[in-house]
Amino acid sequence: MKNYEVEAAWHYHNGTKHPNGMLLSRFHMYHPSQRPTPYKIYKNVSQIILPIEKNSIGVSTLDAISTNLDIKDKTVPDLQTLSRILYFSAGITKKIKFQGLGEMDFRAASCTGALYHIEVYVVCSNIAGLDAGVYHFDPKEMKLDVIRRGDYRGKILQSTADESFTKHSPIMLIFTDVFTRNSVKYQSREYRHAFWDSGTILANTLAITTAHKIPSKIITGFVDSQIGHLLGLDTTQEVPLVILPLGITDQEISPYPDVADVNLEAISSEYEIEYPEINAIHDSSCLLNDIEVKAWRYEMTRQSKSNSQFMALEKRINSSEPIEQTIIKRGSTRKFSLESITLEQLSTILSCATSGINADFVNHETLSDPYIIANAVDGLDSGSYYYNKEKNELELLRKGNFRHTSGNLGLNQDLPYDASVTIFFMINLKKILEQFGNRGYRVAQLDSAIAGGKAYLASYALDLGATGLTFYDDAVTSFFSPHAIDKEAMFLIAIGKKEKAPKQNQTSS
Ligand SMILES: Cc1cc2nc3c(=O)[nH]c(=O)nc-3n(C[C@H](O)[C@H](O)[C@H](O)COP(=O)(O)O)c2cc1C
Repeated sequence: MKNYEVEAAWHYHNGTKHPNGMLLSRFHMYHPSQRPTPYKIYKNVSQIILPIEKNSIGVSTLDAISTNLDIKDKTVPDLQTLSRILYFSAGITKKIKFQGLGEMDFRAASCTGALYHIEVYVVCSNIAGLDAGVYHFDPKEMKLDVIRRGDYRGKILQSTADESFTKHSPIMLIFTDVFTRNSVKYQSREYRHAFWDSGTILANTLAITTAHKIPSKIITGFVDSQIGHLLGLDTTQEVPLVILPLGITDQEISPYPDVADVNLEAISSEYEIEYPEINAIHDSSCLLNDIEVKAWRYEMTRQSKSNSQFMALEKRINSSEPIEQTIIKRGSTRKFSLESITLEQLSTILSCATSGINADFVNHETLSDPYIIANAVDGLDSGSYYYNKEKNELELLRKGNFRHTSGNLGLNQDLPYDASVTIFFMINLKKILEQFGNRGYRVAQLDSAIAGGKAYLASYALDLGATGLTFYDDAVTSFFSPHAIDKEAMFLIAIGKKEKAPKQNQTSS
């Protein structure tokens, strides 16, 4: 089985390391004027207007991020709620004017280079306000593009080899990745970003669905080609990454209509240069049929620790800021002051980030481990730390002032130097790939990015600033070794107090 020939994942991972990964050209240049359209635009498609109410329903961000729902009763979101889920996941939350570039739309979740290469699709049964169908979410117009009419959930269920949660779900969101929209800037490293940027969106989606008391489960095991065909994708350009079934219905999924070819014309990126290494790593991590999906999922669940070993972690601070407000005000910090944050703030962020997810690869846990450089945290010596999420404890690795190291590891940028803390989510990739094959690479990146996305939201709920960052891979492992000797860095977030900047030309959307 190609998925278990894991040299492919190592070739990709090592080849896309900063600074000298052999799949990255040092001479590649990108100017923002080359930025492709960040929207998939269909020609001649029927559209459905999404009603949108952005008001708060009264659930705090910290609760929304850290609560693991255990609902078994019927929960079927209506169109209004679905619209809110889409808006607070991937909608436009602000517009900023830049000299020479005009006005740019920014979205609910952070995204590498603001290139917005993740598309969201909806596959649903009849719900209040919306007929069964396959739809594409158009965040620009807040509309759904109609791709197919009819109930196709059965096709998704088949592609997941009858996954148990999916069987009872009235709505399924599917996240896809348009390769060239992001590779225009990041070349082959794009495929890491596919999971980073769907992870930050998912952190929002999980928070807003939890606020609405809608259970969900992240599904990463499915027959890729079947989902691609259902959505009408040209899978050399755009591929499905994750399925998120939402809600619970007591109606059995009916047999699905014939899945004919979709002949809709759409533009998703004007950048035409392809990076074959992206297609190669994606193809080598595909599951080809339901037997492969079943076997893969069996491995996943067999290896995943049982629920009872997971210890619920405490939040240290209570903030009542509602999730909607946090998402709307979030934006990556462009300049940190050198001021300290408190140990209570850091603990709260760490416990929220590692509060766990319900997925087909973990059961209310996270796979990745946070490693920290504390530059300025009141109540904590400056130094490097490992966060033991089971014990909710920080383990001191080395005491000292590591501001310069923090800046260097984060690609020599000012942001990780100025930040109060930098948190590196790290994972034992060798172990994951041995167990789950190349597809484990997707899962490792996604798991870490969701934790990073939760850290973003928790920081903003506590009135701090945060930004995702990229990093020098092997230097991160060396710095945290010997503790992290067998781990690879997957996601980096810097957190601190925002420097008060003169007002930008920003409007909320
Ligand atoms: C995983 C990740 C890595 C990022 N890396 C960097 C970085 O290295 N340097 C930087 O200045 N911004 C970085 N960003 C921030 C993005 O540029 C920012 O999210 C994007 O411009 C959208 O803006 P917003 O987050 O304010 O909505 C990163 C964001 C993410 C999610």
